[in-house]
Amino acid sequence: MDGCRIAGANSAEAERAIEIAAPDILDTRPAPRAQLLAGFEAWLDQLEAPVRLTVASRLANGRRRRSVWLWSASNELAAQATAQLERLCGAAVRGPGAFPPLVEGPIAERVTGIAWAGAWVECLRLTTLPRVPVEPGWLWQLVGEPQDLDLTLSISPVKAGTADRRLRHRLRELAARELEADWGMPDPALAVERAAANRLREVLARGEGRAFEVAVSMAVGGGPVGEVRAATARLRRRALGMRAQLAPAWLDEGPALLEAGGWRRPRRAFTRLLTTPEVATLWPWLDGPGELEPGSCRIGRHLRTQGPVGLKLAASAAAPNSNCCVIAASGAGKSYLARLVGVSQARAGTVTVVVDPENEHREWCEAVGGTYLDLARGGGFGFNVFEAANPGEGELAARELVDLLAGPLSPPEAGAFLEACAAPRRGAGDSAPVLAELLPVMAGDPHGRSLAARLRPWVEGQGGMLFSRPGRGPEVTRALGVGLRDLPERWRAGAALLVSQWLWAWAQRDPAPKQVIIDEAGLLAAQPQLAELMGQMARRLRKYSGSLLLLTQAPRDLAMEGFGELVAANSATLLVGSTTGPGVQRLKTGFHLSDEDCEWLQRCRRGEFLMLAGATQARVRVEASETGANGDRG
Ligand SMILES: Nc1ncnc2c1ncn2[C@@H]1O[C@H](COP(=O)(O)OP(=O)(O)OP(=O)(O)O)[C@@H](O)[C@H]1O
Ligand SMILES: [Mg+2]
Repeated sequence: MDGCRIAGANSAEAERAIEIAAPDILDTRPAPRAQLLAGFEAWLDQLEAPVRLTVASRLANGRRRRSVWLWSASNELAAQATAQLERLCGAAVRGPGAFPPLVEGPIAERVTGIAWAGAWVECLRLTTLPRVPVEPGWLWQLVGEPQDLDLTLSISPVKAGTADRRLRHRLRELAARELEADWGMPDPALAVERAAANRLREVLARGEGRAFEVAVSMAVGGGPVGEVRAATARLRRRALGMRAQLAPAWLDEGPALLEAGGWRRPRRAFTRLLTTPEVATLWPWLDGPGELEPGSCRIGRHLRTQGPVGLKLAASAAAPNSNCCVIAASGAGKSYLARLVGVSQARAGTVTVVVDPENEHREWCEAVGGTYLDLARGGGFGFNVFEAANPGEGELAARELVDLLAGPLSPPEAGAFLEACAAPRRGAGDSAPVLAELLPVMAGDPHGRSLAARLRPWVEGQGGMLFSRPGRGPEVTRALGVGLRDLPERWRAGAALLVSQWLWAWAQRDPAPKQVIIDEAGLLAAQPQLAELMGQMARRLRKYSGSLLLLTQAPRDLAMEGFGELVAANSATLLVGSTTGPGVQRLKTGFHLSDEDCEWLQRCRRGEFLMLAGATQARVRVEASETGANGDRG
C-alpha cells in the first residue's frame, strides 16, 4: 500500500474523474426542484453504463467546499453521461480534473482504518437505506459533516429482465424463509422485505422506472484518529436517526481502496436494488458554489453550508432587475443589513443614497467618506421642488407637494396654483421660483386665496427652510444619508416627497452606478405619492444603472394598494426575516412559502433571513465579514 493515494488521485482512472456542478436541491424552490428531479430521473433512465458519483468535501483556505465528481468505465461513457446531465439537469461540467485526494502520501492499512502520517481515515458503507420516507437531498445529513470526506454513490443500471429474475428469486427465498419461521408465526422483517420486492416489481411492470444496483460508501478522515472516530460516530448516529445504518467497511469495500484502484468493483460490494425514483432521492448536489459570484456584495453566510452569501445588486443583462426587498418585523436586523450593503456598495465605488426615516445611518455614511443630511437641522442644501425635479416637470412636482401639504386641492385651486406658477415674477429672470414667491399671486386670485392661506404656514418661518428654499438638492459623490427622524410629524410626508422627487431626478441625471436604500419603506409608502415614486424606482432604476434596496417592517405593507406587489414583483431578491402573527399567512400566500419555512420565520433569530432569488431559496445569517464592515466582494 505504500505510496498509494486514497481517492485515486494517483491512478490513471483519477484522471477520468469529471467535476460537475448542478443546483443544490435543498436551495431550490419547490417548482424548479420538481423539474430538476424529473430531469435527474430522465438521466438515470437513459444511463447505459455504471457510473460513480463522488461528493468530495474538503476544507481549503478556511472554506468548506463540496465538489461532485463523476467516474465511469471509459472516457466516452463519462462524456456521454455528463453531456446528458448538462442537458437534463442544467448541470455545468467543470471538466476533467484531478480529483482532490482525501489524504496523500505513504499510507498503512490498519484493522479499522488507514493510518497516514499523523492522520487517520475510516470507511463506512450504507447497509440499510432509510426506512422512513426521505426527501431528495437527505444525503446532506451525511455530507454536511465538518470533516473531510468522500461519499460515493455507485449506480449500475440493471436490465428489467435481470431485475425481475432476481426479484422473483428473492421472493421465493423469502417465501421459503417464511415457511421455516417458527410455528408459522409471520416474521415482520420478512414481510417488509417481501413488500419492498413486490413494490419494485410493480414499478418495473408498470414501466414507472428502471432498476439499479446502488451502493453508498464513505471515507471520512484526514485528521487525528479521535476526530475521525468522533465524526464517524456522529454520521452513524445521524443515519440511525433515519432508521438507516452505516457500518464500518473493510478496506476492500470502502471507497478508499475502491477509488485508489479507480474503476474496480469492490470485492464485497454491498448493493441494493432500487427504482429510478428511489435513486433520484440520492441527488448529490448539496452545496452552493462556496464562493461569491463576481461583483456581488457579501451580506453573511449560509446557515446550512456556512458558505458566504452575497447579493447581486449591480444591474446585469442576466437579471431583469437587481433590486432587493427586505421584509421583517421590528428588530429583525433590517437596518443592520442596510448598513452592510451601504458600506460595501460605497466602498466598491457605487454612489449610494440612503433614505433614513429613523436617523440610523449617519455613522457609516460618514465613515465611507460620504455626507449625512439631517433634514430637521437644515444644512447647506435646498430641495426646491421646482429645481430638483426633472426639467419641465417642476410645476407638476410642485402641485403634488402642495396637494400633500395644503390639499386636497379643488380643481379651481389647482388652476389658480398653476397660474401662479406661470405668472411673471419681478426681477426673477430665468430662475426657478420657490413656493413662498407664489403666495402673493395666489392671494390676489379669488380661487387661490384660501389655498394661499393654507400654504403660508408651510413656506414661511421654519417650514420655509425646507419647502421654500432655492437649490436643486445635494450632489452625491460617494454616499449620502438623508435623515427624516426629527422632522415635526406633520412635515414628514412632505419632506419625504421632496426627497423622493429629488432622488428620482438625481438617479436619472447622474450616469454613475448607484444604489438607493430606503429604510422603513412601509412607513413612507403610507403616502400614495411616495408609494408611486418607490414603485417607479423599483421598475425603472435599473435603466439608470441603479438598484434599489427597500426595507420594510410588516407584510401588511405589501398589501398596500399595489405598492407591495409591485415592489416584490420587481425585486430579483427577497429577504424575509422574523415574522409573527397574521403576517406569516400573508407571506405564505404572497411568496408561495412552505409550511416549514413559515414555521422557521416565526422562530428565526435576529439577523436570520430566508433569501428568495429566482429558482433558489436559502436560509442565511446576515453578518459583517471578519475583514471589517463587509468590504469583501465576490
Ligand atoms: N445580523 C446581525 N448581527 C448582529 N447584530 C445585529 C444583526 N442584526 C441586527 N443586529 C442588532 O439588533 C438590533 C436591531 O437591529 P435593526 O435596527 O437592524 O433592526 P430593524 O429590523 O431595522 O428594526 P426596526 O424595524 O425597528 O428598525 C441592533 O442593535 C442591531 O445592531
Ligand atoms: Mg430599522
